[in-house]
Parts: sequence; structure tokens; C-alpha cells
Amino acid sequence: MTHQIGIIGGDGIGPEVVAEATKVLDATGVAYTPVVFDLGGARYLRDGVVLPAEDLAAIRELDAVLLGAVGAPGVPPGVLERGLLLALRFDLDLYVNHRPFAAPPSPLNDGVDLVVVRENTEGSYAGEGGVLRRGTPHEVATQGSVNTRFGVERCVRYAFELARRRDRRHLTLVHKTNVLTFAGDLWERTVTEVAGEFDDVETAYHHVDAACIYLVQDPGRYDVIVTDNLFGDILTDLASAVSGGIGRAASANLNPARTGPSLFEPVHGSAPDIAGTGAADPRAAIISAAMMLEFLGEEDAAARVRDAVAKSEDVVGTTSDVGDAVAERV
Ligand code: IPM
Ligand code: MN
Repeated sequence: MTHQIGIIGGDGIGPEVVAEATKVLDATGVAYTPVVFDLGGARYLRDGVVLPAEDLAAIRELDAVLLGAVGAPGVPPGVLERGLLLALRFDLDLYVNHRPFAAPPSPLNDGVDLVVVRENTEGSYAGEGGVLRRGTPHEVATQGSVNTRFGVERCVRYAFELARRRDRRHLTLVHKTNVLTFAGDLWERTVTEVAGEFDDVETAYHHVDAACIYLVQDPGRYDVIVTDNLFGDILTDLASAVSGGIGRAASANLNPARTGPSLFEPVHGSAPDIAGTGAADPRAAIISAAMMLEFLGEEDAAARVRDAVAKSEDVVGTTSDVGDAVAERV
């Protein structure tokens, strides 16, 4: 079967790292048709559009999407984040953001091997709220957090199923139940109830502030972390910083129900300051492509890519040098 893969290079280093990821995909021999989209800051600045309806309709028909990064100087904050990235997460119902972190022991810690399962369609990302009397001394701004039993439970179930497949079978809920008492209570009860169906998975709970300390001082205590959208956003930048840096952090925005394509992207942004210099590490994009292969059922190819990345650990060079080395080893 030939997979129909949407390619959104985006801006800055996005197209550079995606080019290396597709180079590696080509090397696997997996049959796919790239469907290229011109989306991101450059398109917005040129045409004034962020996600045209015809592009979204075409994306819905695909098997998966590989995205580099979007964001360009001159584009106001929120335009691309809400208009493109979050629009895709919400519209395609990508309700799990699966972010793995792995690193050998280093001076920073005794090694990292964890996955953050971040709820990806609700919380404070849902866009609830608004502004009144903007720009006046009486301005009011509210930004609520939306937590539904349905949304929390499907994410929690995914995390338990993942934990069950891993060696340690351990799941930590990270939240702030001592302050966010309404949402925290919903999350905590949901985890407790679903845990009843997963006797083989051990569970723990950490407040998000404490989790920040543990992630730095003793990340080895984590196996699977399940958490709210905003906490997951922040924790995954921290987790990347203690496990090889943002150039290694991959992510899968998943629709596990498979009612549409899932989207795979490095956690990093478009880094306009290093665009064109060859300094970008394409590994995060390449590992994201491996996650895509795995989700598409191409487990063997995915394993070869992961293995090739591991064997290219020592490669130093430009973005394309690293991509070439990984592709060659695939
Ligand atoms: C991420 C990013 C996005 C997020 C932004 C760019 C909307 O930081 O994928 O972690 O906040 O989720
Ligand atoms: Mn982020």
C-alpha cells in the first residue's frame, strides 16, 4: 500500500529538517506519495491565508502528515499557532500528543526513558474566554480551561495502554490538583477509575511544580507521564532539555481512533536565527518520521530508522550531513 503523506515544511529550519526526514523515509523503501503543502508564515505574509479550506480538506484525505515548523518574523503571535497548528490538532481530533524522551546516563542525570502523553485538544488550549474593554484601564481577559470527561478519559486510556506495553508499566499523572481543584479532580478520578482496568500498571501522582524538580534531578523515576495540554507543553520542553536537547525531541499528534490522519512533527520551532546555516539537528524530525512509520504499521522500517539514528549518535556536521548519515545506515 502506498501511503499518502502530507508534507508541510513550513518556515525557517522546518523545510530543512523535513528534507532530511523525507531523505530517510526514501531510504527505507516504504512506498509513499508526498503531498506537499505551502503553509506557514511565508505563505501568510505573501497571501494573507493560514489554512485555506481546500488545503484542510485535502489534508483530511491523507494517511499522515509530516510537519517541520512554522513561524516567521513579522507574523503576530497566535496567527499560525491557533490558525494552523492548533486548527489541525482540533480539526483532525489529534487528541494525544505523544512525546518520547530517551538519553543515556550523562553528567545531567542517570538516563532518561520516558514518554509524555499530553492531552492535545482541550485544557487552556481550547480557546475558551475572551476580552472586554480591550486597551482600557477596565480591560478584562479570561482564558478558561476546558476539561471533559470524554476528552480526559480517552487520553488517559491511551496512556495506560502505552504503559502496559512498556517494561516498567508505570504511569504518573501530573497535574495541580491542590489548586486547579475542578479540573484536577476530574483528571484524578478518571485516572483512578481507568486504573481499575489496568491492574498490571502501577500509578503515581505528582504536582506539576514538583515534577519539574524531579525531571531535572531524577528523571529516571518516570516511565509514562499523562498530563493536561498546557502542563504537557511546558514539561516536554523541560524533558527535552534534560535528554539531549530540543534537536532530539520528536512528537506524534495522534488520532488513535484513526478517524483521520495523524500529524508528526519535531517539538522545536522554526528557529529563524539559524535557518540556512546548516546548524539545525534533523534528528527530531527524523525520529518523528519513524513514529509516523510505526503508526502507519511500518514497524520494521520504523525500527531501522530508530536504529540508524542511534548509530549516528557520533555524527557531527551540517543538517544534511546528519540526514545523509542516517539515510545511509537505514
Ligand atoms: C508545541 C508548541 C505549540 C504548543 C505551539 C507552537 C502552538 O509549543 O508543539 O509544543 O504550544 O503546543
Ligand atoms: Mn511547546
